[in-house]
Amino acid sequence: MTLDGRSVVVTGAATGIGLGITECLVKSGANVTVVGRREQPLRALADRYPFAVAVVAADVCAPGTADRIVTAATETFGGLDAVVNNAGLARFGPIDTLDPGHLDEMFAVNVRAPADLIRCALPLLRASRGSVVNVSSVGGVLSMPGRAYYGATKAALNSLTRSLARELAPDVRVNAILPGPVDTPMWTDAGLDDAGIERLRTNLTAATPMGRFGDPAEIGQWVCTLLDPAVSGWVTGALIPVDGGRTA
Ligand SMILES: NC(=O)c1ccc[n+]([C@@H]2O[C@H](COP(=O)([O-])OP(=O)(O)OC[C@H]3O[C@@H](n4cnc5c(N)ncnc54)[C@H](OP(=O)(O)O)[C@@H]3O)[C@@H](O)[C@H]2O)c1
Repeated sequence: MTLDGRSVVVTGAATGIGLGITECLVKSGANVTVVGRREQPLRALADRYPFAVAVVAADVCAPGTADRIVTAATETFGGLDAVVNNAGLARFGPIDTLDPGHLDEMFAVNVRAPADLIRCALPLLRASRGSVVNVSSVGGVLSMPGRAYYGATKAALNSLTRSLARELAPDVRVNAILPGPVDTPMWTDAGLDDAGIERLRTNLTAATPMGRFGDPAEIGQWVCTLLDPAVSGWVTGALIPVDGGRTA
């Protein structure tokens, strides 16, 4: 697999799955514009890969961020071949304990921001016959008691993926990876207490035929595979579970 010299944007690139994706992309020869709100971990990535990584420290929901990202990728790497919408927000809990505002926050990060970035990047993606990968979740296809708001946003992202795949073909391919449970900071940041996290992790491990959480690198490989036109040039509108059998 080679993505030699391709210019790729990855949101939420400094931690968890985004880091796994970025490392796989750089090893495959791509140039990566990395996005997130915290600048320091993004700079650490750029220090590690000085000629292959450009940093945009920004909130993907803020007005103007999508334009800034596209401009940075183009000015630094001379064009744009692919967008990976990976930044995500999870707020877990039963519906009667969650603030309805959490649903708006999750839609803004998990659906609105990816749509905005695709829209802004579109002229360049059309010119390069490029590709989009949205990092969704098995939560977008399974019933998710205790995580209904989050699941609803990922179902919306799946729908966006499939509709845009048809709308933008044959110029731009649009696919989604649906991870099962992966070991990342998301679990500790989702608003559950320690006992709640432990209970959820135990239940999810038991519900996953492979008997373990995934590793971010295992998601990164699949994103790189989808972005590589030599391997996946005829794949669009696919929602690919990479989930240890969770949806089997
Ligand atoms: N871990 C899992 O089990 C799992 C399973 C299925 C799907 N996913 C999906 O995988 C994706 C990555 O999550 P993760 O598990 O790797 O968790 P994570 O380490 O918490 O990653 C989330 C990333 O998104 C960035 N981010 C969040 N809000 C942002 C915003 N408003 N603007 C810019 N960047 C923002 C964060 O960086 P900053 O805080 O610096 O902004 C962080 O780097 C998410 O879409 C998640 O829904 C995860």
